[in-house]
Amino acid sequence: MSSVDLSIVVPTYCEADNIENLVRAIGKALAHVSFSHEILVVDDDSPDGIVGVVERLSEEFPVRILVPRDRPRDLSLSVMDGIQAAASERVLVMDADLSHPPDCIPAMYQALEADPGVFVLGSRYVESGSFDRDWSLWRFFNSHIATLLTRPLVNCRDPMSGFFAFHRTRIEGVRLNPIGYKIGLELMVRGRFTGVREIPIRFQDRAIGESKMNFTQQVYFLRHLRRLYTARFGSLGEFINYGLVGASGFIVDLVFYFLFQWLGLSHQWARALSFWPAVSWNWQLNRAATFGERKRRPRARQWMEFVLTSLLGFTLNWGVYVTLTGRYPFFDDYRLLALVAGIGVASVFNFVMSSLYVYNEKRL
Ligand code: GDD
Ligand code: MN
Repeated sequence: MSSVDLSIVVPTYCEADNIENLVRAIGKALAHVSFSHEILVVDDDSPDGIVGVVERLSEEFPVRILVPRDRPRDLSLSVMDGIQAAASERVLVMDADLSHPPDCIPAMYQALEADPGVFVLGSRYVESGSFDRDWSLWRFFNSHIATLLTRPLVNCRDPMSGFFAFHRTRIEGVRLNPIGYKIGLELMVRGRFTGVREIPIRFQDRAIGESKMNFTQQVYFLRHLRRLYTARFGSLGEFINYGLVGASGFIVDLVFYFLFQWLGLSHQWARALSFWPAVSWNWQLNRAATFGERKRRPRARQWMEFVLTSLLGFTLNWGVYVTLTGRYPFFDDYRLLALVAGIGVASVFNFVMSSLYVYNEKRL
């Protein structure tokens, strides 16, 4: 048994300006508690001199820094490195930007002490000034839609939180496959926890520096979700994902279908052309998300095969549309129905072909 009761893992990238405030705030929050702690900063080789800052702080506080260089820069992998290197089996993970209030650490520690089997989650119930950082579609996606998408996987209010604590023995021998930002979700879904215990926190928007969350991270998140769905629900996960991608492609298709007609093309031509942006959209998303866990072939070759299978799908799709609208006055009045019928026939065909040929690489 180590003499440290709690290891606080803090992943950092370009946080030299925040780390001192954080370490001091933790020191203050834990000055009068009965348990001991260490702070373990896991930095991805930031070019901002954080190592020097932490070394100076270590004269005053129980803090050390780890700079793993044997892998690509990644938040989840940094957290995993920190968990491995932690002196204590009780690990707490938090951001460096002071978004997660150190004052909540004692309550989280207590919750873990009371029941070592649970996953303790610092859960946002208030976001101070939620409107001052860009309340964009982006943020909306991140907090609401993404949370909704995790519903079938975990039962908690804030599955996106990066503020959590747990007993390391609960993930021993568990095969983790984290990627991107949602290491907490990964641990919750795959770890052997008896439940999730949520501690309400007041989330603060970062004051210094900027979020490293970006579009790539969102795509990673979708892939991560898919992995977790597949782990939990088997191939059904892939199928649901394929359906969702298809639904989004349908919207792209409609937009172009109307756009081309608006530009003066006949509806048959509009239908023939709108197919291509839609199907390319689907291909890209399926490559990134639905079949993202399968080993990838070179893009060019996969694209060729895709175009070939799409040509067949396209012929079916367009053929059904033109035949229905040309032969039946009913479908000429309700062209959208003809369009949907064409897509329906082609989708079944495409799913089978994609699954068998285009993305047939072995699952990872
Ligand atoms: N080592 C390492 N490597 N650390 C990283 C990396 C990386 O590639 N990317 C980000 N970090 C660190 C940051 O320095 C910060 O301490 C913490 O991870 C969170 O990064 P932010 O860039 O501040 O992320 P955020 O505020 O957009 O996201 C946070 O809140 C989300 C919920 O709103 C994170 O806690 C997410 O996990 C959480 O989902
Ligand atoms: Mn942040």
